Amino acid sequence: AEQGWPELRRIPHPPRRVPLLGDVLGVNRRTPVQDSMRFGRQLGPIFRRKAFGNEFVFVWGAELAADMADESRFAKHVGLGVANLRPVAGDGLFTAYNHEPNWQLAHDVLAPGFSREAMEAYHPMMLAVAGHLTDHWDRELAAGRSVDVPGDMTKLTLETIARTGFGHDFGSFERDRPHPFVSAMVGTLTYAQRLNTVPVPLAPFLLRGATRRNEADIAYLNSTVDALVRARRAAGGDGDLLDRMLDTAHPDTGERLSAENVRRQVITFLVAGHETTSGALSFALHYLSRHPEIAARARAEVDAVWGDAKVPGYDQVAKLRYVRRVLDEALRLWPTAPAFAREAREDTVLGGDHPMRRGAWALVLTMLLHRDPEVWGADAEGFDPDRFDPKAVRSRAPHTFKPFGTGARACIGRQFALHEATLVLGLLLRRYELRADPDYRLKVTERLTLMPEGLRLRLERRAVTP
Ligand code: HEM
Repeated sequence: AEQGWPELRRIPHPPRRVPLLGDVLGVNRRTPVQDSMRFGRQLGPIFRRKAFGNEFVFVWGAELAADMADESRFAKHVGLGVANLRPVAGDGLFTAYNHEPNWQLAHDVLAPGFSREAMEAYHPMMLAVAGHLTDHWDRELAAGRSVDVPGDMTKLTLETIARTGFGHDFGSFERDRPHPFVSAMVGTLTYAQRLNTVPVPLAPFLLRGATRRNEADIAYLNSTVDALVRARRAAGGDGDLLDRMLDTAHPDTGERLSAENVRRQVITFLVAGHETTSGALSFALHYLSRHPEIAARARAEVDAVWGDAKVPGYDQVAKLRYVRRVLDEALRLWPTAPAFAREAREDTVLGGDHPMRRGAWALVLTMLLHRDPEVWGADAEGFDPDRFDPKAVRSRAPHTFKPFGTGARACIGRQFALHEATLVLGLLLRRYELRADPDYRLKVTERLTLMPEGLRLRLERRAVTP
């Protein structure tokens, strides 16, 4: 029985294996997810890849993925890329093991920070940050320059989570280069991904320089966060996420987060709270620029719902149903957190066919699940927001669209991300026409998350803006 899968040999793997190294032929260590997608297409709904003596099982077929969503038999597994982030994020919400008491404590203390009331309070701050983006884009347009979509979306989403969650201003839009916090974060994410591509015992040697840089990055993240917490303790706050972390006791037990755990949570939220949303917005803008008819339909909806309101109210964002579908469809094709891991709570049989011992785990390859032709049809690779109209959604099997993960450990920031991104897409559609560079071919970089690389758009001010 290998690694908890007694019948592992029945799970297909790539045909050509190299002794010691495993399935490394024809793979690029910078794009592990897109490589796995290629393998998955050849090998079927469940497959395995070997790297340095370890077998990793991948699941993407709709039936198997739905089975893994069964919370009574499976739970989140903290492994691979997520486990590699433990030195940065410790027992913060995202990287906590299921059995760590700080998970439930922090979950219960922080969940009200994502209630509808909390979102309504964030809405004006989200609008203010989006205003910085459109000011910046207006200047670029006036100067005859195209805009750097992923770069600017990252500025936007970082400022949004920093202000709404922590009352902090990184000043991203006043900088030409990314804030050092962003560079340090990208560094640690990239490093966490690279750790998966070398044999663990050799990592200290092969990645010596990178390991030193990673330690410096972590030190920088810690010191940024410590300064932010110090300032807050001195000044007091107004009921945002940081206040919850610092001051709120658990409703039942009266327990509070420790200072060390607060540090982990702040880093977790600053990173988890912006990187994936930035990618989602970037992919959505890419597709809107490539599909003028879809952009026109979305724009017409914005005009109809917002009327001549100068700025949209909270409810006017929730009513942008078609814009939301554009976002869902972008997250279908490029779920910016492209996989999540699940482990068996007890001995079980996956899909009635693959025995697993307690603790055995597999990666659910969301990106390929979202392109399974049996679920999405023969045109699964095409961009079509109508896949998310209510009738189409009702007719689809459950657990086939999972950009925010599943179960108790699914994304706590889902509503936050959707509100922010829908709001921003609405504002941008209302203000600009988006012109694609005809020579641009979508290229996706991976650093645990997905991001379109080198995506620039030309803007035109709309002739008549309501
Ligand atoms: C968890 C995706 C935005 C905070 C997750 C998970 C996924 C995900 C797939 C589960 C990971 C796993 O099972 O290992 C996304 C996507 C987003 C997004 C695609 C944007 C489009 C956000 C935002 C925040 C956030 C805006 C915070 C403001 C978190 C946290 C967790 C999490 C704290 C861990 C939850 C727990 O385990 O209790 N996210 N996320 N995410 N996300 Fe998000």
